[in-house]
Amino acid sequence: MEFFLFLLLLLCFFMDTDAAVFTLENKCSDIIWPGIQPGAGKPQLMSGGFQLKPGEIVTINAPAGWSGRFWGRRGCSFDVSGNGRCETGDCGGVLKCSGAGGAPPATLAEFTLDSPLDFYDVSLVDGYNMPISISTSGGSGNCQMVKCLSDLNRQCPRGLEMKKNGTVVACRSACLAFDKPEYCCTGAYGSPQMCKPTVYSKAFKLACPMAYSYAYDDPTSTFTCQKANYSIRYC
Ligand SMILES: *[C@@H]1O[C@H](CO)[C@@H](O)[C@H](O)[C@H]1NC(C)=O
Ligand SMILES: *[C@@H]1O[C@H](CO)[C@@H](O)[C@H](O)[C@H]1NC(C)=O
Repeated sequence: MEFFLFLLLLLCFFMDTDAAVFTLENKCSDIIWPGIQPGAGKPQLMSGGFQLKPGEIVTINAPAGWSGRFWGRRGCSFDVSGNGRCETGDCGGVLKCSGAGGAPPATLAEFTLDSPLDFYDVSLVDGYNMPISISTSGGSGNCQMVKCLSDLNRQCPRGLEMKKNGTVVACRSACLAFDKPEYCCTGAYGSPQMCKPTVYSKAFKLACPMAYSYAYDDPTSTFTCQKANYSIRYC
C-alpha cells in the first residue's frame, strides 16, 4: 500500500516537475552568461545563472506554473568561486543570480506558464543589451515566434547609450535614462490611457516591433501558447 502511494507520488512529481522545457542557445560570437530570475514564490532554475559559450545549447526543465525572466549577461569575469562582475546584465556580482535580477539595461524574455495559457514576451522596458528571440515547439494555440534581432546598440537613440571603453554596450530605456513619469508610466502617467509611446519607445518599437517598448505596450507585445516547450536564442 505504502509502496503504491510512493509510486503515485513519484508519478505526480514527474508529471508536475517537467511541465516545460526551456532550451537556451548562444548564437552570439562571444561568451554570454544567461541570468534567470523566478517570479515570486517560484523555484530557481540553474541557480539563476551560468556560462554559455558560442554555439552551446542548454536545456532546462521548469515545473508547471513557473514564471520568471531570462536575460543575457555580457563581458563578465568571475573567479573560481563565482564572484566577479559583468559589463551588462550583472546580478550583484555573482555567477549564480539566486533570485536577483539583472541590472538594466538588459533585454528580457519573460514567461508566465499555465495561467491557464502560457504568456511570453520579449521586453525592452528595462532597456536592451543583446538580441533575443523566443520560439515555441509542440504547443497549441497562437504560439508565435517573438524576435528582437536588431542591434539596438548600433541604433540606440542619442542620450540612451551606455558606453564601456568608448563603445555602446547597451541601450537604456528613456525611463532609466531620464527618470520621468511620462517615460516610466508612473504617477499621473500610471495608466494605459495616460502613458503613450514616446519618441524613445517608438525607436525601440521600430527596431523590435514584437517586443515591449514601454510599460503599456501589451496589445502588440504579449503572446500566448499552451503546453509548449520554449527555445530562447541569444543573438
Ligand atoms: C518538451 O520536451 C521534452 C523533452 O525533450 C519532451 O519530452 C516533450 O514531449 C516536449 N513537449 C512538447 C509539448 O513538445
Ligand atoms: C579599451 O579599448 C582599448 C583600445 O581599443 C583597448 O586596448 C583596451 O584593451 C580596452 N579595455 C578594455 C577594458 O576593454
